[in-house]
Amino acid sequence: MAGNKQKHILDGIKVLDITNVIAGPSVGNLLIELGADVIKVELSPTGDRARFIDPIKPGRGSTFVKHNRGKKSLLLDLKQPAAQTIVKDLLPQIDVFVENFAPGAIARMGLGYDSVKAINPRIVMCSISAFGQTGPLAHAPGYDYIGASYAGVLDVLGGEPDGAPTFPGVAIGDVMASVQATAAIGYALYHRERTGAGQYLDISLLDSYFYVHDRGTIRHKLSGGTFRMKRPGRFTRDFVPQGIFKGRDHYLCFMVALDKVWGNLCKAMGKPELGRHPDFATNAKRQENAEQVYKLVQDWLDATPEDEVLRLMDEYHIPVGPLLNVGEAAEHPHMIQRGTIRTVQDPVLGEIELPGPPMRFSEFPDPVDVPAAPLLGEHNRMILKEYLGYSDEKIEQLEAQGLFRKKG
Ligand SMILES: CC(C)(COP(=O)(O)OP(=O)(O)OC[C@H]1O[C@@H](n2cnc3c(N)ncnc32)[C@H](O)[C@@H]1OP(=O)(O)O)[C@@H](O)C(=O)NCCC(=O)NCCS
Repeated sequence: MAGNKQKHILDGIKVLDITNVIAGPSVGNLLIELGADVIKVELSPTGDRARFIDPIKPGRGSTFVKHNRGKKSLLLDLKQPAAQTIVKDLLPQIDVFVENFAPGAIARMGLGYDSVKAINPRIVMCSISAFGQTGPLAHAPGYDYIGASYAGVLDVLGGEPDGAPTFPGVAIGDVMASVQATAAIGYALYHRERTGAGQYLDISLLDSYFYVHDRGTIRHKLSGGTFRMKRPGRFTRDFVPQGIFKGRDHYLCFMVALDKVWGNLCKAMGKPELGRHPDFATNAKRQENAEQVYKLVQDWLDATPEDEVLRLMDEYHIPVGPLLNVGEAAEHPHMIQRGTIRTVQDPVLGEIELPGPPMRFSEFPDPVDVPAAPLLGEHNRMILKEYLGYSDEKIEQLEAQGLFRKKG
């Protein structure tokens, strides 16, 4: 934006990130995309555990590389009070503090909200946990899929109605919780702008997952507890035809939710008369005759090249999506043109591709130029000198005390 001096909307906001794996690190990642400055404190000796997930090169896991770009890594042994003091020295400069240990762990590092607030009452502190900070499950550790299990989501997410549930291939819940945390942080900063007050945010994988329910909770209550949601399998009977068909090259997801769209699909299939046929004209009739509808559509798909199917669906304004694999998605011209995929440099892996920033602002049309994810402890000296004004002698002393690695 001409004349706009800010790097992005959160330019000038300083974030302290003491996080592991995905749900916590992803928050700092999103805040960096919005222009924030993020210091990531990593626990010695090995730092964020995601460094070892899908290690493409030793200690350089893809999960870490994705969720920690642009962060400054400060490696500390936070079991030592003197190392905790370093973090406490940083707190007065910090606007947002994000952590995702199991409840209780951050307080054992001397960094619970009461201690943090006493040092900086303007801080917005965000904890992400599996089950939240209160309640009978609060103490327990958990990951995305554990939250999804307790939330009644994994039971219906995938798999055939009468078969076993299936395991998801991506961590949707971690990223969803991080997006909710990022939204909450934004509103807490807005509140601070109006009142001067910071606050504590309690975000959990369970709450985040459970929030997706609509019919399940309502029908459960209204049925007196007898209603049981089922996995849809390939087709949902809410609307017919809606679900996953087999195209010649890919599976194809169809969403024919409106009768007018059914009419258009019939035109695309070269059978416009079926749009008005009494057995199929309304969704109610198509639900009754679903197997016939599925066969009509599948026969058309079997007989028609997939690019022609997609062209006709586009021409008749019908929502459809080929189930691309991730490589095909990354190479799709639409993704490339919009910057949904971007090429970045990694000091260890070389040139890699990553998803582009998901939040777009008209006042900040250009994405932030985010450097690569840090090496472990890469910024120790820089942070201690530039943020805290420690002298070289003091830093060497702290090093000799073993604050940057585990004692013993
Ligand atoms: C991710 C999780 C399951 C890992 O469990 P865990 O390894 O047992 O870690 P906890 O957070 O329970 O902490 C237990 C101890 O490990 C230590 N620890 C945690 N991560 C560490 C790390 N990367 N390096 C060194 N020590 C670490 C903690 O300091 C704590 O020490 P203490 O008990 O002596 O005080 C847990 O942190 C958790 O439930 N987090 C909240 C939900 C979440 O974000 N899950 C991950 C989604 S991607």
